Amino acid sequence: MLGSGAREHAIVSALLGEGAGHQVVAAPGNAGIAAVAETVSLDASNGDLVASYARDTAVDLVVIGPEAPLVAGVADRVRAAGIPVFGPDRAAAALEGSKAFAKRVMDAAAVPTGRAIRAEDLDAVADALDELGAPHVVKADGLAAGKGVLVTSDRGAALAHAEHYLQQGPVLVEEFLDGREISLFFLSDGHDVLPLSPAQDFKRVGDGDTGPNTGGMGAYSPLPWLARGWADEDAFVTEVRDTVALPTVRALEAEGTPFVGLLYCGLIVTEAGVRVIEFNARFGDPETQVVLARLETPLSGLLLAAATGGLGGMPDPVFRDESAVIVVLASEGYPEEPITGRPIGGLDDALEVPGVTIAHAATALVEDRFVATGGRVLGVVGVGGDLAAARDAAYEAIGRIRLQGSFYRTDIAHAAIEEEAAS
Ligand code: AMP
Ligand code: GLY
Repeated sequence: MLGSGAREHAIVSALLGEGAGHQVVAAPGNAGIAAVAETVSLDASNGDLVASYARDTAVDLVVIGPEAPLVAGVADRVRAAGIPVFGPDRAAAALEGSKAFAKRVMDAAAVPTGRAIRAEDLDAVADALDELGAPHVVKADGLAAGKGVLVTSDRGAALAHAEHYLQQGPVLVEEFLDGREISLFFLSDGHDVLPLSPAQDFKRVGDGDTGPNTGGMGAYSPLPWLARGWADEDAFVTEVRDTVALPTVRALEAEGTPFVGLLYCGLIVTEAGVRVIEFNARFGDPETQVVLARLETPLSGLLLAAATGGLGGMPDPVFRDESAVIVVLASEGYPEEPITGRPIGGLDDALEVPGVTIAHAATALVEDRFVATGGRVLGVVGVGGDLAAARDAAYEAIGRIRLQGSFYRTDIAHAAIEEEAAS
């Protein structure tokens, strides 16, 4: 397992939770992962190092968590060494690494998405802003850790954002898509896909979707409100598989750059139908933590089948009829300038709450104490019979954790629960 975040902690926990005796090694991992599995300090972005480590230790499967190693071509090196790898080669990872590439593939595959205009200078940006109208959406082309996107009605702010990112390359000006966002993951073996269960992510730092974008402050799954637009979750998932995931995977296959790994479809349900806002080439964080918390089918078999071309004919993964909610605890100053190094208390108390697990995102053990080492420190996952029970468990537990200056959103899954109660 390559990576060091809460997503990787959740994947490692899911693999170990199968009880199949898997031996899991994480590189580099984090303090939470080190409590349950072996960790090695290996540069996860160095493909040659990863490939030789995997060969020397006879690893059966390499799972790549974050986007940076994918875009750096780590999967290419591991695959070339003859080792099964869950994660796309560099060329296919451009689906996440370049928004312009993703738009081109979507056009080729007739995947529904918003209009986008690629601009290489400020004049072209200004023309595009006028053509597409407000609210404005301006995106950096390359990886920007969730910070490259600005959605604003302020034309001057849109221009300033574009000017900043133009220093690094072209920017995209996009049509504003209005509606609810959904993260839906598909396992892909390069030809066939299998869906996981949908989740909703909360990207803004503050309650009520205020403040800057972050990597994600919370999530929940499943989405009870889907049943109001579709017959059920399956109908929605099938539509996205047939109109988005499968055409995209087949288009990449036809171009000779097969996508093997996790196709993350970032969707908006508009009045005119489902639209793609972005693709990622890996599991989402924190959505993975709630999706895997409900997964009944053993994850290892799914990942290995995807890595070895074996998804065709397999049944869809099964999810427990339970709900999961994750609330992320962030360091003071996140996302601009998180303060790190502070000790974390109360973790054992939090874990006493029934149905609760904790995924470590940025922690280290210093003299037997966990300390925060980054902006998103950990995520508290509550599982329950319905969303309200899951949410209550997560909030009861996170309230028991002590980290000076830390904060979390108080409204994760709130609107969905209210709607359920009202309907
Ligand atoms: P992205 O990095 O492309 O996922 O964008 C980050 C966030 O910006 C998304 O999760 C949306 O909330 C918002 N966003 C991106 N593109 C659009 C769009 N075309 N219309 C409306 N909101 C968008
Ligand atoms: N939670 C958003 C992402 O993983 O990109």
